[in-house]
Amino acid sequence: MDNLCIVGLQWGDEGKGKVVDYLADGFESVVRFNGGSNAGHTVVVNGSRHVFHILPSAALKSKKLLIAAGVAVDPEVLSEELSLVKSLRTRTVVDFRATTVSPLEKMMDATLEDFRGSSALGTTRRGVGPAYALRALRLSPRVGDLVSDSYDMTTIRDFYKNFLPEVPDMEGWRKKSKMLLEELTGNVSDLVNEINDRNGAVMFEGSQGTLLDLLHGTYPFVTSSGTLSNYVPESVGVPPSRVGDVMGVAKCYTTRVGSGPFPTEMDEAGAQRIRIEGKEYGSTTGRPRRIGWLDLVSLKYAVRMNGARKLSLTKLDVLARLKEFKVCEAYSVDGEETEDFSRCLMEMDRVKPVYSDGWSIKGRLGANGIPGSVQELIDHIEEKLRVEVKLVSYGEDRSMTFER
Ligand code: IMP
Ligand code: MG
Repeated sequence: MDNLCIVGLQWGDEGKGKVVDYLADGFESVVRFNGGSNAGHTVVVNGSRHVFHILPSAALKSKKLLIAAGVAVDPEVLSEELSLVKSLRTRTVVDFRATTVSPLEKMMDATLEDFRGSSALGTTRRGVGPAYALRALRLSPRVGDLVSDSYDMTTIRDFYKNFLPEVPDMEGWRKKSKMLLEELTGNVSDLVNEINDRNGAVMFEGSQGTLLDLLHGTYPFVTSSGTLSNYVPESVGVPPSRVGDVMGVAKCYTTRVGSGPFPTEMDEAGAQRIRIEGKEYGSTTGRPRRIGWLDLVSLKYAVRMNGARKLSLTKLDVLARLKEFKVCEAYSVDGEETEDFSRCLMEMDRVKPVYSDGWSIKGRLGANGIPGSVQELIDHIEEKLRVEVKLVSYGEDRSMTFER
């Protein structure tokens, strides 16, 4: 069996957590490969809801949980999440090379947002951007540094004195983090390569989404790490040939939290309806998500950039409750029509969506759980995106995901 890489194809919150939980059974281990506790991955089992910010979303299955070198690890969030279930501590390994996030980075995140004023990005303020920036500046302590007795926080505190009005004493945080990470630190790259060497398979779990990728997304309204399948080899420390099959996850409409362009965004009255039906509030910050129609232009780009041959389509139950919905087939920029998303990246604020409308999903769930009337939409997506729709979800519970 091959490795499998799960990535978001929109601006995050596509339902990756649900898909990872659903598919985890066939894999020895699930590896979270990007971002930090800016992510919120929701898994619902028998009506009870679990949100993971840093642990892989297979936490509820008895799988080995690996956190790759390319993740920004906040020990306070990790500690809280591990305390939810006893067995988690013995199943979790954090790569010793991973970048760490402290209260200083969270303060810096807020300071930078205030500095931007009316052009704030609307970050989650979880300190992830500053942590990656400090890594690039070669100032950030790694997990392995916090574990080592010789590391001290003087340089980093002195650095932050240039930017923050007050820099707290970090000794308490340092001690707690050391105690936690000592138990968890390991070599994730070796672990994954060893599993693959003996023909075992792992799943790579991405967070955020393609359009939030630092290089290939809607910059500057993006997150601070890679979000595409191409970030797996760098982050995990495996050769590109081990990324495996790529499955993209997309909602059958679009949402976005935070600022930035959003061509298919709908008016507030329509948004409100879907927001309530689809519980579209940020799972990390609680912010109401912005809502728009399905956008096949950006989705086509995302499928291509990730090399996704499989697609998981989520939240069809929400669309089924609408009388009618629209699908964006092309963009119009200054009167010229295009289906090429990357061509529009420098002029995103002038993009107007071109829709096909009159779509609807009706009727009861069939034998495989999917109403017959969804077929037309799935055929259209498969044809236009050149991808196979493999999973369809019709509700948030694990039991409402169906294979095709
Ligand atoms: P940051 O990643 O906290 O720096 O935030 C940068 C942008 O990415 C903001 O628009 C956030 O709302 C968005 N963002 C970050 N993580 C997620 C996520 O997991 N889901 C959805 N949006 C996210
Ligand atoms: Mg989320």
